Amino acid sequence: MTEPKLATAIRAVLTSWEQATTFEHRTNALACPGELSVVLGKAVEKALDGAGEDPVVVRQEVIAAPFVLLAGVFEPGELPETPEWFTPVPDAGGTQMGRAAAIATHGFLGLETVSYGSENSGELFVSLTAIPGDGKFAHKSQGGLRGHTDAVSFPFKGDFDSSNSRIAPSPDFVTLVGLRNPKGVPTTVMVLHEALAKLSPDDVRELKQGQFSFGSQATFLEGMQDILGAVHTAIDEPVLKDVAFGTIVRFSHSNVFPTDPGGAAQSAADNFEKACLQVAIPVAIEPGDVLLVSNRLCLHGRREVGGDIGGHSRWLLRTYALDTSELDDHRRHLGDWPPHVLYP
Ligand SMILES: [Fe+2]
Repeated sequence: MTEPKLATAIRAVLTSWEQATTFEHRTNALACPGELSVVLGKAVEKALDGAGEDPVVVRQEVIAAPFVLLAGVFEPGELPETPEWFTPVPDAGGTQMGRAAAIATHGFLGLETVSYGSENSGELFVSLTAIPGDGKFAHKSQGGLRGHTDAVSFPFKGDFDSSNSRIAPSPDFVTLVGLRNPKGVPTTVMVLHEALAKLSPDDVRELKQGQFSFGSQATFLEGMQDILGAVHTAIDEPVLKDVAFGTIVRFSHSNVFPTDPGGAAQSAADNFEKACLQVAIPVAIEPGDVLLVSNRLCLHGRREVGGDIGGHSRWLLRTYALDTSELDDHRRHLGDWPPHVLYP
């Protein structure tokens, strides 16, 4: 069991960091996430080493896991009322420690904390809360979410989009940070190999063919219009891909369809959707927890949130992690953007 040991190491590092810094220092440090990630990541490595654990083994185990819940790694401390929109994340003691927890975890794993310019203006952290009103985002934020991978129209790492080679890969991990969850609303995770075990070899074969179209998730739509002049869609790509360490996935129940509806591709996608529902595991992210979800080996969703808005209602932070060691600079925005903002 790697999780408790890693959680203990991260908690120790964050406690020392909080004690050694002022609020203002932490604000400034969080404005340079790349540097902070290296510092805190190395400290986590040292803490594991000091506890007699091999950091290399722990790192490999986490990177290979479909999901990892790191429980109680930070103290949520002072928080304002739960925000009613994705951005900005208020700069408060609790959100500082939550953001630092994600950044420290990614640093230890050798991953960069990244965002996409086309989603929420490239903000590195966004709040996931119930949004008031009647609009599309309000409706989505209060209901449940079926299984999906994030940034689903973007290519797998190592691949290029057929229409625009600048488009960066989707993230390796979706990282969720718990600030408030008074009703214990679970996030759901669907482990890919468990879902695939429920499919026929024919269905798996269909899902590996380049015959699916990938639309964009709602949070990217506006930014894509601004940056690309159109909403990005990937056409005739596979849902599953075999790589050196197994099979990886990109899928969304609401944004991925066979390019030609009907036939064997359609029934494979339908059966995959059913299999994901059958294997879904609920994980309630409590305040102080960090949930790392592999965006290649796992799908994620959420049970119904309900209509509690603001106040002390449910509040998670979300960010992404990607191994960018082989990522070409032209797949970042650069220029006036912070270095961690990927294209588009
Ligand atoms: Fe998601």
